[in-house]
Amino acid sequence: MKFSKFGEKFSQRSGITSLMEDLNHGLMSDQDIVMMGGGNPSHIPAVQAIFHQHLQAIINDPIKFKHLIGVYDAPQGDMAFIRSLAKLLNQHFGWPISDKNIALCNGSQSAFFILFNMFAGEYGSGHNKKILLPLCPEYIGYGDIGLTADFFATNRPLLKDCEEYQFKYAIDFDNLTINNDIGAICVSRPTNPSGNVITDTELARLNQLARENDIPLIVDSAYGSPFPDIIFTPVNPIWDSHVIISMSLSKLGLPTSRTGILVAHEEIIAKVAEANAVLSLSTGSFGSMITQELVDNGEIIRISRELIKPFYQEKAEQALALIRKLFPNKQCKCHKPEGAMFLWLWFEGLPISNHTLYQRLKARGVYVISGHHFFPGFNDNWRHRHECIRVTYTQDKAVTERGLKIIADEVNKAYAEG
Ligand SMILES: Cc1ncc(COP(=O)(O)O)c(C=O)c1O
Repeated sequence: MKFSKFGEKFSQRSGITSLMEDLNHGLMSDQDIVMMGGGNPSHIPAVQAIFHQHLQAIINDPIKFKHLIGVYDAPQGDMAFIRSLAKLLNQHFGWPISDKNIALCNGSQSAFFILFNMFAGEYGSGHNKKILLPLCPEYIGYGDIGLTADFFATNRPLLKDCEEYQFKYAIDFDNLTINNDIGAICVSRPTNPSGNVITDTELARLNQLARENDIPLIVDSAYGSPFPDIIFTPVNPIWDSHVIISMSLSKLGLPTSRTGILVAHEEIIAKVAEANAVLSLSTGSFGSMITQELVDNGEIIRISRELIKPFYQEKAEQALALIRKLFPNKQCKCHKPEGAMFLWLWFEGLPISNHTLYQRLKARGVYVISGHHFFPGFNDNWRHRHECIRVTYTQDKAVTERGLKIIADEVNKAYAEG
């Protein structure tokens, strides 16, 4: 059978496909696998109990239940939820937004498909524009969603040393080129995979550049505030007429609800709603219905701050302590974990590539992600790209310890092979 370019594009092996396959294989396998590759949020009992209670209340209410299973929402999303969310963001951050500034999507991954292709690709004149990722490594899921080739422009970051053999990436503004070939800027904050959180100063500079060039600045806040608030460093979110904030209910603990949230200028929101209608008629109601009351009474913020953030922060600290113990000779540097749910480990001068390390670890039942996948559009032959891996620390401490021990063993063997 023959496929169009579009059909062929999605059958190419991409980083995100292999990640999701590994995740599924890990779940289905009888082998005792240590899954440190996926981005599945942890099952936090106290948080799940709250969702259980709200779902039960919907099931017990015949009108709500009918809505849950039997009524298409508007292409912009569940309007009652959108109004409540606008009010919450208004009260919480003082953002001057209304229900015209918010659209839901079926997961923020789908939101990025729409947004990126709306601002990058071919413009009327035949001129192609790109999405600028000002700092790589960046989220693996961006890599393959462009409908045209040569979709991203990206840069090496600066590396800053931090305490206890940690390091932190910073945007290299001196080498950041923004010209007429850039359709939008995008940054995840906190960043998946590194756990980096760009500073308020960096964000303000990006905002200024976006404003000067009359292009949107997309801030992917899948792990950010006000929910799920998996962010361990005191920074502030921003809002401006050309800023697009992407949020999600996934890392709050509802990844199967596939609820992504975009907050943007009303002209953009109207276009996203139209794209939703074409691509999927309407958005799923499960996420908005189950969290409606939590948004109305602001509980979603308390749950994030008091239950979700401390849970992940404690796990990050435990994993860091293990790394210090397992790599006493400092063969492993770790990006300062400022948020999200991953550790980004850097083995400087590793004689094998991170992809080979990934394969050796997989053969021993430990699934990680090779860092080279996290550089969409990166043409620079930078050794650092082949020296890092991403590990998830969301599982039980004993499981993380077992995984990290095997990683330390394989890394030490590789250094010894030299
Ligand atoms: C940075 C980032 N953005 C977006 C997404 C997409 O999330 P979802 O489609 O579940 O909302 C993820 C998922 O892991 C992510 O890590």
